[in-house]
Amino acid sequence: MSENVSSLLYLVSGVLFILALRGLSHPTTSRQGNLYGMIGMGIAILTTLVGHAPSGVGAWFLVLLGLGIGGGAGAVIAKRVPMTAMPQLVAAFHSLVGLAAVAVAAGALYAPQAFGILENGHIHKQSLFEMGLGVAIGAITFTGSVIAFLKLDGRMSGKPIMLPQRHAINIVLAIVLVALLAGFIGGESKVLFWLIVILSFVLGGLLIIPIGGADMPVVVSMLNSYSGWAAAGIGFTLGNLALIITGALVGSSGAILSYIMCHAMNRSFISVILGGFGGDAAAASGGGQVETRPVKQGSADDAAFIMKNAEKVIIVPGYGMAVAQAQHSLREMADQLKKAGVDIKYAIHPVAGRMPGHMNVLLAEANVPYDEVHELEDINGEFPQADVAFVIGANDVTNPAAKTDPQSPIYGMPILDVERAKTVLFIKRGMGSGYAGVENEVFFRDNTMMLFGDAKKVVDEIVKNL
Ligand code: TAP
Repeated sequence: MSENVSSLLYLVSGVLFILALRGLSHPTTSRQGNLYGMIGMGIAILTTLVGHAPSGVGAWFLVLLGLGIGGGAGAVIAKRVPMTAMPQLVAAFHSLVGLAAVAVAAGALYAPQAFGILENGHIHKQSLFEMGLGVAIGAITFTGSVIAFLKLDGRMSGKPIMLPQRHAINIVLAIVLVALLAGFIGGESKVLFWLIVILSFVLGGLLIIPIGGADMPVVVSMLNSYSGWAAAGIGFTLGNLALIITGALVGSSGAILSYIMCHAMNRSFISVILGGFGGDAAAASGGGQVETRPVKQGSADDAAFIMKNAEKVIIVPGYGMAVAQAQHSLREMADQLKKAGVDIKYAIHPVAGRMPGHMNVLLAEANVPYDEVHELEDINGEFPQADVAFVIGANDVTNPAAKTDPQSPIYGMPILDVERAKTVLFIKRGMGSGYAGVENEVFFRDNTMMLFGDAKKVVDEIVKNL
């Protein structure tokens, strides 16, 4: 295949990836977006295989074996993973992108002739620069993503781990890393290459351990961005246009998503990139202490009565709805209430659940009309006019401590002002705290009624009582 044809095909796959990103930005077009992405990736893989056809049966066997194992494992894992475990899966996959960048750079260093990057027996300086940068970002992404995976999967405490002098340590390590990179580019040394890898592994871990649970979504999206830049760097080494385009798209879309999320959570974008943001406040988190104050408790019957007599109900879904898979029962409940003339709206917090768009996906799956689903900034002003805020499995995203307690790990995050509704109904199994491990004052307010139980069971009961 000529260079021009393969460049053209890579461009086509790049355009398909852009269309995929556009499609994925809304639930109505997300399936189509996914399809564009799959076609784009198919074209990119075939073009690479035909353009750089492996020589000999053995090489083909290795390539197909790699595709089979990677593709097969990816398909099985994606099919099996519950929606609630998606963020840790994404973090785990990012770690592989980082590791792949390290492996490719090592391959290029040990067999530069195979990559066409030799000049007079030495690797081009430019290639050494790209390799050095790619391998450093890749290795940081690898350990950073592994730590994010362990924290999100509950295999490691979600609480921030604060090393004394962590900023100073990080700065010193970063300076040493730059010096190693300069030495590597200057001397093509394999020892320096591996020192860069080891130091970047350490730095990746150190950047992520001080970050607390509530800030994790931004971290995952930031690591997504890092993995894209690592791929782009390696794309330059390989001279592969598709990898450069895809890496740049992943890198920039991840950075834009992180920026939007930082904005939504009132965090500083720069401190996220540098790691350990919001850390000091998060360290002060007490997390999960047992609360003994009394709360007003109600039954499904009470909830059905209150909502039937309401004019306007705003539903606030959260992580617990996803765990209970209560979205279908919830839609049934909303349908019944609408038949009774109640105005129903859904309020979605940007970080409700465990991944961006988590609630939107679940509500779309239950065929909730899109025009009833509203983002935080559009609906927050409507709570004072609502008769009922029906909070189903949400906690942190309704917690006023985010506005009032500078010591709270969620301080600064905008919240849904559910307590301003006439009545607040909270469905949850007990008095357990949310993801950030902080108590929610709204449970104890006079206008709050707690409905204890699994979200699906309680909503099914409410439907019966309606
Ligand atoms: P959370 O604050 O995590 O609260 C969920 C609540 O659901 C818990 O308090 C729990 O209380 C209840 N629950 C769990 N299982 C339930 C079930 N089967 N039935 C009924 N209730 C159940 O959720 P949220 O308000 O959606 O906030 C999201 C949090 O996750 C934020 O802190 C956010 O920063 C963080 N986070 C978000 C993301 C993204 S991108 N969305 C990613 C990672 C982390 P009980 O145990 O008492 O039932």
